[in-house]
Amino acid sequence: MALPTNFNSSSVPEHIAIIMDGNGRWAKKNGKARIFGHKNGVASVRSVTEGAAEAGVKFLTLYAFSTENWNRPKAEVIALMHLLVTTIAGETKTLNKNNICLQAIGDLDSLPSNCQSELSKAIKKTSTNTGMTLVLALSYSSRWEILNAVNSLLIDVKSGKLEQENITEDDFKNYLCTKDIPDPELIIRTSGEHRISNFLLWQAAYSEFYFTDTLWPDFRKENLWEAITNFQNRERRFGKTSEQIK
Ligand code: FPP
Repeated sequence: MALPTNFNSSSVPEHIAIIMDGNGRWAKKNGKARIFGHKNGVASVRSVTEGAAEAGVKFLTLYAFSTENWNRPKAEVIALMHLLVTTIAGETKTLNKNNICLQAIGDLDSLPSNCQSELSKAIKKTSTNTGMTLVLALSYSSRWEILNAVNSLLIDVKSGKLEQENITEDDFKNYLCTKDIPDPELIIRTSGEHRISNFLLWQAAYSEFYFTDTLWPDFRKENLWEAITNFQNRERRFGKTSEQIK
């Protein structure tokens, strides 16, 4: 499938982050249990990953499991972890074929051990790929990440590794899970919800937001390209006036 004719390949966001939402409602609409929605969401993950790489995106971050998602019914959490393990294991070959490097952010130590081992295997196997980087946010929340960063930074200040005076934004960024990843220019949320839900709060300072009513299991690469085209028609001022940036 070709990129749309109005697509500007010279103005593609370097990093796109997606809050994949609406799996449960999609399943309900189809008279099925919630996990059916999650399972169908994997096809969207595949299509969007492929579409992002085709569009020339360098980093794609997917919010796959939040810190707060641990509070869901136990059976749903177990089923989601199982789905993550099987998807990660099953998709490694395709990631390699497409030169995609897998990374993960979040409190990865809190994941079940089989999930941790599949994840590190896939990360290792794809680590030399030089195309797009696919970042899975797992057991991730931004408040967790920021607190974690503050605690690690304080340890370094105490040990003298970091000077207490004049800690800069760049110093702080070095303590975040995303230290090696540029801030997302575009954040997409599916399913008609207009919230950030504890996702990339520091990194989203100047992100453009794109909301769509499409439920995640119905979202495909064409929808991603539509979001990118929408982004390309926006004026990003970063606090300056329109005249200044012209
Ligand atoms: C939100 O929908 C979706 C999730 C919490 C899980 C997303 C997981 C997948 C798409 C499965 C596989 C992912 C990867 C990256 C391998 P929801 O359950 O909150 O939907 P609702 O708001 O309609 O209830």
